[in-house]
This record gives sequence, C-alpha cells and structure tokens, in this order.
Amino acid sequence: MKKIMVLAGGNDQCALIEELRRYFNKEVEIILVDMSDKVKAVAYADKFIQISTMDRSAVLKAAKEEKIDYILTACGDQPLSTMAYVSHQLGLPSYLNEQEVRDLTNKRYMKDKMVANGIPTAKFIYINKDWSGKLHHFSYPLVVKPVDSNGSKGVKKVSAPEELEDSLREAFRYSLSGDVIIEEFKSGNELSCDFYVENGVVKLLCITASKKILENASSFTIVQSYYPAPVAYNECRIKEIAQRIADVWELKDTPLLIQMIVKEDEYNVLEFSARMGGGSKYHLIQVLSGVNIMKVYVEMVMGKKPHVEPKKQWNNAIMSYVYCRPGEYVSLKGFDELQKRGDIFSYFTYRLAPSNIRKSDTSSDRVAGFLVVGNSEDEVQRKLEYANNSIAVLDAEGNDIMKHNLY
Ligand SMILES: Nc1ncnc2c1ncn2[C@@H]1O[C@H](COP(=O)(O)OP(=O)(O)O)[C@@H](O)[C@H]1O
Ligand SMILES: [Mg+2]
Repeated sequence: MKKIMVLAGGNDQCALIEELRRYFNKEVEIILVDMSDKVKAVAYADKFIQISTMDRSAVLKAAKEEKIDYILTACGDQPLSTMAYVSHQLGLPSYLNEQEVRDLTNKRYMKDKMVANGIPTAKFIYINKDWSGKLHHFSYPLVVKPVDSNGSKGVKKVSAPEELEDSLREAFRYSLSGDVIIEEFKSGNELSCDFYVENGVVKLLCITASKKILENASSFTIVQSYYPAPVAYNECRIKEIAQRIADVWELKDTPLLIQMIVKEDEYNVLEFSARMGGGSKYHLIQVLSGVNIMKVYVEMVMGKKPHVEPKKQWNNAIMSYVYCRPGEYVSLKGFDELQKRGDIFSYFTYRLAPSNIRKSDTSSDRVAGFLVVGNSEDEVQRKLEYANNSIAVLDAEGNDIMKHNLY
C-alpha cells in the first residue's frame, strides 16, 4: 500500500485526500502534516503529525521515519517548497523541483524573471531590513509585500510616505526569507485566471474577478469571486500572457493560477503559481468548466498525462466568503437548508468550530464560503441576496457574528 504525506490540513486538502483515496481505490495511507491539530483534514487522514509544513528538516525526518512514497500538497504556495525539498532528499517523484518552486513562489525571483522576459508587471524594488534608500522613481500609492508569504498576509497599500515604515514592519514580520517588495499600486479590476498546462500548452479553465473588502482600506481581503468578471477584458491577451509564462518557466503539465490587474488595455501580472487557486477554487473550476481539476491534479502528480477539455457550464456564478465580527464561531445556520432547496449550489467551511475569530483581514479569517450559480446576472444576484439574508454564523449565545454587509 502506498503511503502519501499531505502537507497542510485546510479544506482544499480534504478534497485532495478524498481524490487520492479514489485514485488508489482506498488502498492508500494518508499522513497529514500541519502545525495545528485544529484543521479539517485531520479527520480525513489515517495519521496526523503535528509539525509546521515550513519546518523542512522536521518534515524530512518524519517522512523518512514513515517511509513515504509521495509528499504532496494542493492550493498553497509555501508547502510546495517543502514538497520539492523532501522529494529531492528522498529521491521521490515531484512535479516541481526546488528551483522551480522558488521561481514560482518567491516574488523576488518571479518578478525579476517577468521583467527579463517582457511579462507586464508593476514596477518594483526588493529590499531587506538594512534598506535605507529613497523611492525616487515611485509615486504613491504603493504596495508593500513579503516576497514569500501568501493569502495577502503582510500585504499593505501605502497611500503616503508616513505610512511606509509601519507597513514595512508588518511585511518584514511575515517574510520568511527577510525580503520585502515595494511596488506601485495598480488600480483596476483584479482577475484570477486558472489554466491547466497540458504538454506545454495553456488551456483556460476560468477567469473570475476577485472582489475585495472595501472597508479594509489598506489590506486586500478577497470577499467574492465573480463569474463572468464584470469588466471588459481581452481573453486572447490573457492567454498570450499565460502561454508566455508557461514557456519561460518551462511548465509542461500543471495547473497554473495567474492573478492580474486589468485596466482598459493595461494588464499587470501580480503573481502566479503552478497550482490551482485556494478557497475551494478547485470546486469553482469544476462547476464552471466541467473539468475535475483535483482529479486531473492527482493523475498528473502520479505521473500520468491527463487531458482536459473545458466546456462552459453556467453563464453566471458568485462565490462569496463569509467573514465575522470578533467572537466565537460555534455553528452555522441556514446553509444546509439553502443547499437542499438549490438556492445555493454548495458551501464550504474553513474553520473548525468552536473557533475564536479575531479579525477579517486575510483568507485564514474566513469561516465559510458559498456558491450561487445561474444563467443570468439577475438570477445570481437574487440568490446571493436571499442567501445573505438567510444564513448566520452563531456564537455560544446564539448571536449572529457574520458580517452581512460585505457583498
Ligand atoms: N501592485 C498592486 N496593485 C494593486 N493591488 C495589489 C498590488 N499588489 C498586490 N495587490 C493586492 O494585494 C493582494 C495580495 O497580493 P499578492 O501579490 O497576490 O500576494 P499574496 O501572495 O499574499 O497573495 C492582491 O490580490 C491584490 O489585491
Ligand atoms: Mg496572491
């Protein structure tokens, strides 16, 4: 029986584990690694080891002891590097090697390579803690971000010079390697573009617009994914950029997620990675394109050459994430009933109850997400409004702590 170590225990990894069990016809042992034992995937695994997925040497030691056959992750950037490292050390197959992971996840290397190869991206510099330079050639607003974090952790919009120091301090706090990027803020619509690269050729799965929480003025908290994106964009241009990325990074068979900001005919790539998006994007991809990307992913990491044929399934869809006011999340109300009646297509939970909610700034603060689909803008808006009025996130006293004013 094969032994597979899965890194990180979020909701999307639960789907990965289920798909692995299907692939191996249940003849597989899953060992989950996460720094927290309060994650959903613990219940899906055969064995749980509580170590940080970032602690490469501890993960390597555990992997050796367990004599694993594969180490995998899905939908997250940071564990990819541990996956590549441990695979290399133990001579296990891995669809990315360490240098490829670095060039695909560390924004410093990623942006240098984008500039060198004519892929449009916001003007930037990278700095470390000793930096005391001046930003002569930049105009505010700016964005500061750790080169190697994700989920918008430590990413801040800086509107004026006096805010820079505080924002940098925050970014350095989240930077693993100690480097931080300062780049120009680009206004426009943010698109999240999912592809599957098949034998070196990009195939478009879906393009959604990422809506941010407006009340969080200086941080970028994604609250909804809209399909179709409510902005005119040139699909050919986006495919060209994606193909250029696949060519330059020599991507052969892999999911590819590209985030970009579009304003009229200006396209700027924020970042990309050789994986599918998080926050149940694997599900959204399947609902919108008909491609079971998690299944494709598992086949690909197992060395097969899956073939994808995306076909449009719905005209409209909105995935909405549920954030809360500070409080204790104890239970959800209304979600099951809405799903049974077809008012929402599906929903996902991201936190195990009971759980203390302190803020609503980053993707790890999400409690749940729900998807509405339909065949007109009107239909999905109506369903969204109805769902928003019917659901609640309850604390121990039965108070609703959900923020209903975000959509
Ligand atoms: N140059 C920029 N201009 C405008 N918004 C930006 C810029 N860079 C980042 N953002 C916003 O911050 C979010 C997080 O930045 P990103 O580069 O994707 O880092 P992360 O790895 O944390 O996802 C983006 O989704 C986007 O909304
Ligand atoms: Mg991002």
